[in-house]
Amino acid sequence: MHRRDFLKSSALAGLSFALCDKHLWGGAADARVEILVDEPIGTISPNLYGHFTEHIGGVIYDGVWVGENSTIPNRNGIRAALLDGLKKIHAPIIRWPGGCFADSYDWRDGVGNKKDRPTRTNFWEVTPDAARMKESGPQIFDPNEFGTNEFVQFCRLAGAEPYIAANIRSLSALDFDHWVEYCNSPAGSTTLARMRASQGFADPMNVRYWGIGNESWGCGGNFLPEDYATEFRRFTSWVPRYGVDLQLIGSGPNGNDIDWTHRFFEKNFATRKYDNPDFVGWSVHHYSSGKDALQYDPAEWYGILREANEIEQIIADQWTTMGRFDRQHQVKLVVDEYGPWYKSGTELDPTHIFGQQITMRDALATALTLDSFNRNADKVSVAACAQLVNNLNALFLAHGDKFIETPNFYVFEMYAGHQGAQAVRAQFSAPDIHFTEGGHPTALRGLNGSASRKGNRVKVTMVNPDIEAPKLTQIAVRGARVETASAVILSSKDVHAHNTFERPDTIKSSALDSSVATGLVSVTVPAGAVVAVDIVVS
Ligand code: AHR
Repeated sequence: MHRRDFLKSSALAGLSFALCDKHLWGGAADARVEILVDEPIGTISPNLYGHFTEHIGGVIYDGVWVGENSTIPNRNGIRAALLDGLKKIHAPIIRWPGGCFADSYDWRDGVGNKKDRPTRTNFWEVTPDAARMKESGPQIFDPNEFGTNEFVQFCRLAGAEPYIAANIRSLSALDFDHWVEYCNSPAGSTTLARMRASQGFADPMNVRYWGIGNESWGCGGNFLPEDYATEFRRFTSWVPRYGVDLQLIGSGPNGNDIDWTHRFFEKNFATRKYDNPDFVGWSVHHYSSGKDALQYDPAEWYGILREANEIEQIIADQWTTMGRFDRQHQVKLVVDEYGPWYKSGTELDPTHIFGQQITMRDALATALTLDSFNRNADKVSVAACAQLVNNLNALFLAHGDKFIETPNFYVFEMYAGHQGAQAVRAQFSAPDIHFTEGGHPTALRGLNGSASRKGNRVKVTMVNPDIEAPKLTQIAVRGARVETASAVILSSKDVHAHNTFERPDTIKSSALDSSVATGLVSVTVPAGAVVAVDIVVS
């Protein structure tokens, strides 16, 4: 649709009063963003920008852990380039050790002297990838070189908080208590604290975030929701605290499975209320599924973005369901796995189970998801992108001494300024994009995004999903006066563009021209681009 048609159709359809407000808007535009700085949604928890690392394929072995004696630059065995990357995006929290792996993991295997640690069959041995890898390597037979100490060290070096998922399918509640005791009991206080000290961790690790299983409806035990509710009560009753502000997270639904959430909350809140102030999070996983990571037509491009947008409805529906029982909303949503998931074939090494290439399409899906989190800052307290390196929606790809940043990394870098800011309401007005998916007419918002305020700085992030048309966009800030603006963009003329070891800089963010006139910021958001605008207001 051309600009003139848009203005006509907007006025006719009465899209927004703001579009017709001559005092606010000036000149022609394809899209308009009205930021309402006096309408706060909630503080954007830095933890919405978290990450996930599982013992699967090349995530831990090759991605995170290279070992102290490696020739690859490392700090305490952790890949140095990865740590540097995590610092640049201010990674706030990292989830580990799974994923499905968590419910087959015995934490005791991963502590103590490295030479005494057992080698165990990895959960993912069951996948066809194991056969492809000829049943060998640390991805299939885990040497446990990377355990609790190494994970906590990784988090410390990255400046992030640890978030540990406990095993409830194949270990006991006592084992869970002992893991907490190992991590958090005061220096010298218990046998496990002394064992921890012998590994160089005299002081408590103070791990606050604990997941009670993972996907307990599936790989985490195939529980019925009522049975999981019982296990949840058992595992979370009288967990040793040691003065640590524990944040216990229940294993929530697969996508938008209302039934799972309803039956769990009904049992734990309505049938006989379970009063545990540490129960503060309900995990949700949402993957968008596509065929090929690199080959896609426009309908497949839009399809992934539409599916990524479903997180908004999932948040709304899950929140409503939880609120029927948890009326004070003690429990917030924790979206600790999300991203597009394609069939195998584009992994950079055969050992990288679920490894896939990351293109501009994934960058847009990630940006749309982060914008949804910002817009729901009052409901979502933690999120983790699945997964950090050499896996589904990776920010980094690594193999041996090779290391690159994917387009997703740049999205996290561009969005980092939202962390800790006040999310404010913003209205994005642009004509919908229409496309056909599986023979059905479907629509996607023509421009979407989120806005936040920190002092005299307003940040707005935007995604133009349109595969063809750029959008001249005007931004108005209601409730404050625009002084200056600057913008950063992530885009490419080729919608299939991605970074490789050979061409690591094909996609990277760069400065974008923007202007300020009569109190409005003007910026052109190219087709298929992510843009972040920082506005100084008075
Ligand atoms: O991220 C890969 C897998 O996807 C995780 O192990 C599991 O939780 C989910 O099904």
